[in-house]
Order: sequence, then structure tokens, then C-alpha cells
Amino acid sequence: MDKPYILHLITSEKNASPFDVNMAIDAGWTNIIPYTNAEQTEIQTLVQDAIFSRSPSGLQRTGIFFGGRDTHEAMDMIQEAKKHMVPPFEVSVFADPSGAFTTAAGMVALTEKYLKDGFDHGLDKSSVVILGGTGPVGVASAVICAKAGANVRLVGRSIEKAEKTAAICNDRYQSKNVVAGADADKQDYLNKADIVLNTGAAGIQLMSDENIQMSSNLKICADTNAVPPSGIAGVDVMDSGKIMEKSPNKCRGIGALAIGNVKYKSQHECLKLMYTSDDPVYLDFEDAFKFAQKSV
Ligand SMILES: NC(=O)c1ccc[n+]([C@@H]2O[C@H](COP(=O)([O-])OP(=O)(O)OC[C@H]3O[C@@H](n4cnc5c(N)ncnc54)[C@H](OP(=O)(O)O)[C@@H]3O)[C@@H](O)[C@H]2O)c1
Repeated sequence: MDKPYILHLITSEKNASPFDVNMAIDAGWTNIIPYTNAEQTEIQTLVQDAIFSRSPSGLQRTGIFFGGRDTHEAMDMIQEAKKHMVPPFEVSVFADPSGAFTTAAGMVALTEKYLKDGFDHGLDKSSVVILGGTGPVGVASAVICAKAGANVRLVGRSIEKAEKTAAICNDRYQSKNVVAGADADKQDYLNKADIVLNTGAAGIQLMSDENIQMSSNLKICADTNAVPPSGIAGVDVMDSGKIMEKSPNKCRGIGALAIGNVKYKSQHECLKLMYTSDDPVYLDFEDAFKFAQKSV
């Protein structure tokens, strides 16, 4: 009998995410086993219990998924898991905490597409403002944009928190060009911005009609928030490159469901690659972005 496809879903949260469970089954994993309230110090035991119980051919049908809510914790867990593999006893690993890696990947891939289609512009040297940027989706978006050559302003209500988050983006992920900003000063940043990404908490509007009317250089407004009111006024959840009425520069709007569609494809492909790859893979937001770019 063929071995089943077993995915060990590890999270530091109280519950595994039903979203991730559905995604994994739809991508071909047959058995999903959740491990909740997991701590960094427990990763070695969990990984080695998973790898030593199957032959190398069975291990191709075995994977580890890290969920949780925290970008850096998930990245630490990938590193810790990799450290404790004993080749050929080794399995594929993928992290997507809170769906943030694939959501950021989908949003930035669509942004890149409409920037090219509408303005013949790339992310390189673009000025990107990320509103509500201190959460998991904001951090992954900042690093992806910065690594593509954009100058990124990561904005939050507290400048101290935004500075700390921007410093982690630069120091830990070698992105160099992420700086912090305060939400109270956002119009100053928006005056020069090419791109605004809203990654603020659900149901919070961080950019008004007035902000859009005053931002004469804006080319793209992308909003991850699917809970009314929209995070960026005038961007509907279904919009995918629609010209925004209030924008003096005919800025293109990208809404949360359009982003969710690309996110879905990216997460699906990452989950499939885990068992179709000949060699074990370690997947994070940079891999998710490559899949998202292919799907737009
Ligand atoms: N479209 C999709 O497929 C998809 C998938 C996953 C998530 N999402 C959405 O993506 C967005 C970002 O997710 P996330 O998990 O990174 O967000 P989050 O951690 O819940 O919030 C992001 C930031 O929003 C700011 N914020 C929180 N409450 C606020 C308030 N009352 N007023 C103003 N700012 C506030 C905080 O920054 P400061 O404290 O620094 O101000 C926080 O760090 C959410 O809207 C989420 O629903 C979409």
C-alpha cells in the first residue's frame, strides 16, 4: 500500500488554523496532524520524531508546516527544523504564519503586475508606503518590496514600534532600505509615494478619500483588509487593477479578494512542492512570492 501524505502542522497558537488544514488537504496532503502551543525548544524532538519513523521514500510524503502568528518565530522554527534534520532523514518544511507570507506575496505580485501594465514601472527604486505595517503581513510585504529594490516606509501608530519593526526587517532579512514612519505623518510620505499597501488590522480604514486626492504621484493602492470599511477608501475587495476615481494620477486599486486569489494559488503551489520536489525544500515568503509572480 502507498504511504499516505502526512503533514505535521506545528503552531505556537492554541489552535491550528482550519484555513491551513483545508489548504493542505486541497493540495494533496491526506493526513494533517496538528501540534499546538509548540515552543521553539520542542522543535528538535518534533522534527526528529517525524524523520526517523519513515524510510527516505516515505519521507518524501512527509512534511512540516509552521503556522502561528509571528513572522520571526516562524522563520526561527524553519531554521531550527533545518538544523535538526539528519540527511537522508530529512523532510520539506514550509512556514506561512497567519497566512501572512502568501498574502504579502500575492499583494506584491499584483502590485508589480499593475505597476508594469499601467505605468511601465518596476518595484526597483519605487517609493512604497505600508500602512499598518508592523503586523505579520506588513513585515513580509516590506521585506519582499525592499529586496526587489524599492524604498519602503513602514508606518504604524507608534513610531517606536515602527522603528523596531523596520530595524528587524533590515537586520534580520538583509533588506537595507526599510525605514519607519508614524501614522500621524502619513500624508507627508504619501505625497511622494508610488505605491501604498494597506496591511492594517481588519475593519480599520487607514487611508481616506482625502489622502488619495492629495497623493498626486500614486500609482498603486493595494488593500489586504476584507472587512468593511475598506482599508483604503475607494478600493473594493474585488478590484484588480481598477482605476481609482479620486486619484489624480489614475492610480490602480487592488482589493483583498483579488489578493486572496493569488495568495491561494501561491500557498497551494508551496504545499504541493513539498512532496513533489525530489529533494527536501524549505519555503518562506520569498518562495511564496516567486509562485505568486508566476500566477498573475
Ligand atoms: N486578503 C487576504 O487573503 C488576507 C489574508 C490574511 C490576512 N489578511 C488581512 O491582512 C491585514 C493584515 O494582517 P495582519 O495579521 O498582519 O494584521 P494585524 O497584525 O492584525 O494588524 C496589523 C497592524 O495594524 C495596526 N492596527 C491594529 N489595530 C489598529 C487600530 N485600531 N487602528 C489603527 N491601526 C491598527 C497595528 O499596527 P500599529 O500598532 O503599529 O499601529 C498592527 O500591527 C488584515 O486586515 C487581515 O485581515 C488578508
